Amino acid sequence: MRTILLTGGAGFVGSNLAIRLKSELAGQARVVALDNLKRRGSELNVPRLLKAGVEYVHGDVRQLADLEAVGEVGVIIDCSAEPSVLAGFSGSPRYVVDTNLNGTTNCLELARRYHADFIFLSTSRVYPTAAINGLNFRETGSRFEWTDDQKLPGASSRGLTEEFTLEGNRSLYGATKFCSELLVREYLEMYGLRGVINRCGVISGPWQMGKADQGVVVLWLASHLYGRPLNYIGFGGTGKQVRDALHVDDLYELVRLQLNDPGLHSGQVYNVGGGPQNSFSLLELTEACARVTGKRVPVGTVPENRPADIRCYLTDNSKIFRAAGWAPKKSGEQLLEETARWIRDNQEALRPILGS
Ligand SMILES: NC(=O)c1ccc[n+]([C@@H]2O[C@H](COP(=O)([O-])OP(=O)(O)OC[C@H]3O[C@@H](n4cnc5c(N)ncnc54)[C@H](O)[C@@H]3O)[C@@H](O)[C@H]2O)c1
Repeated sequence: MRTILLTGGAGFVGSNLAIRLKSELAGQARVVALDNLKRRGSELNVPRLLKAGVEYVHGDVRQLADLEAVGEVGVIIDCSAEPSVLAGFSGSPRYVVDTNLNGTTNCLELARRYHADFIFLSTSRVYPTAAINGLNFRETGSRFEWTDDQKLPGASSRGLTEEFTLEGNRSLYGATKFCSELLVREYLEMYGLRGVINRCGVISGPWQMGKADQGVVVLWLASHLYGRPLNYIGFGGTGKQVRDALHVDDLYELVRLQLNDPGLHSGQVYNVGGGPQNSFSLLELTEACARVTGKRVPVGTVPENRPADIRCYLTDNSKIFRAAGWAPKKSGEQLLEETARWIRDNQEALRPILGS
């Protein structure tokens, strides 16, 4: 039986992928989720994993020995990270670098030992902050929008392609993920491994432990459901900054395609996200949350930008669509409905994490 190891397997993405993989592959694969439970709330995913038949290993990607204890692996899906762009700004970069970069190197070492396939969850935040914020945009009543007259290649109203520049600063989070991408590519080339890099935009859905610096959709929904005030922070405080959002179920469909045909995707880098049709500004998200929850909360204004923040991000999924016919299927409305249902169904258990 092949072993699929998901690092960060008790996190939002890792737990959702692990549980779906185990239920689909049942007798054909051992699915192992390794996590050090650094993310607050990830402990709530452990009983879900065990109930689904996923093996949970309490381990740390910073320690190669913890990964080695899993034994022989056929596939590694690297979902462990300190995933906030603000990580390290108010203190030391140590944890971000040790986990996001050295941790990935340890995962690659394990892959090298067993000649395992490697799926790396990278981020749209490898694209530099100033270049993104320098793109031409227009302002409508409810959002900022990129225009089609861009000086840099790889940018249009349809989003960013993989051709967009990689020159410039990108936060410690983005930098550690970008360095990891380089190492993934070197390992594939040097040791003849198969692997793929998915540069994901905002991902969301049930079991995301959204917080002020990461997981905006859940933060917004939970604040409506628990009656907690919010703030429009940055870009003048008007709430017009835009993101696209990908339902974690759609990411799962992509991972399945990549697991089924590792040769086709090996060595590729894909931008992966909700795309323009699944995008929202914070103002629009507030209205959508009020619709879905039937509640309104006060939203204040903080005009100053937070470090490394961006005005807009939209994913151009054309490359992965051409390669595999993959495109997101779940709408933004479905994402909000399903996520709100999850919070309502688990309101008391989630209160200490999402409600305070
Ligand atoms: N959620 C998003 O919007 C998004 C967007 C782009 C990319 N990604 C990437 O997807 C992956 C999964 O992100 P997520 O949203 O599930 O985040 P998450 O914080 O929910 O999950 C990450 C998990 O890694 C664990 N972890 C942290 N440090 C660890 C360590 N040293 N050893 C072992 N485990 C450790 C955490 O406890 C957590 O459970 C990350 O690599 C992230 O960079 C996420």
